[in-house]
Amino acid sequence: MNTMYETLTIEKKGDFALLTLNRPDKLNALNSTVLSELKAVFEAWGKDAQGLKGVVFTGAGDKAFIAGADIAQMSDMNVDQAREFGSLGQSVTLAIENTPFPVIAAVNGFALGGGCEMAMACDFIYATTSAVFGQPEVKLGLIPGFGGTQRLAKLIGRARAKEIIYTGRNVKADEAHRVGLVVSLFENKDELLAAAFKTLDYVAKVSPNAVKLSKQVMNTGNDLTVEAGLKTELAQFAAVFSSEDMKEGCKAFVEKRPAQFKGC
Ligand code: COA
Repeated sequence: MNTMYETLTIEKKGDFALLTLNRPDKLNALNSTVLSELKAVFEAWGKDAQGLKGVVFTGAGDKAFIAGADIAQMSDMNVDQAREFGSLGQSVTLAIENTPFPVIAAVNGFALGGGCEMAMACDFIYATTSAVFGQPEVKLGLIPGFGGTQRLAKLIGRARAKEIIYTGRNVKADEAHRVGLVVSLFENKDELLAAAFKTLDYVAKVSPNAVKLSKQVMNTGNDLTVEAGLKTELAQFAAVFSSEDMKEGCKAFVEKRPAQFKGC
């Protein structure tokens, strides 16, 4: 992807990319430009993985991943503009979820409001020990609009999510880790990014096709009953038996050699 962006940088690192939201003077707050650029990037990856096997998504600087939707921009919006803005933010979260490879949120500081919502749309969250999460919208007379009312409850349970959303309070890294919002904590940003790429190194060794299908089935199942989710799992479990990766993976095991996966 060679397109230039005003608010994003994409650094290719072998099979992976580091996506950095680059608006540190406003703590990487999400205005319409940022959201439109994120949407363009993730939708492009949704159509064509461009050889990537994973992406790490972080915020520029040491202070914030994303400090929320841009409050200055929202302060002048009417109902129709708010609907359009919310719809744009939601479409970014869906585009992140529909990316055909893992996206790890590397949260380095504040992940508030829309920042917490963007992180939750990623496959999982790694964070620094100084990270701060929260959905502070009620303090502004707002409600979460980029998926927070839905995804937070699914990730940490409805009661905990309600307590966090109704109070708008900050959730420090250790609590976010304890309740399962964050998978792992790291002392600083360098360690955080190194760990995220190390995880992607493991992912790159397995079948990209199997990872893509696992992601699809798990994301779809999140919105279904267990029984309906099992049906989608079974359909893909059976379909994968026609893939080259499945034949290679099982053959390599029997022949006691490393598998050479092609991703199809
Ligand atoms: N929208 C727009 N601008 C934002 C922003 C947001 N969500 N969060 C931070 N900024 C801007 C500030 O206005 C400030 O800009 P300025 O230097 O031009 O005045 C700059 O980023 C630095 O923020 P500042 O508040 O000075 O940093 P701080 O260290 O004192 O506080 C926070 C950090 C995150 C606690 C504070 O910025 C904050 O509360 N932000 C809003 C969080 C929020 O409510 N998010 C949800 C929105 S729905």
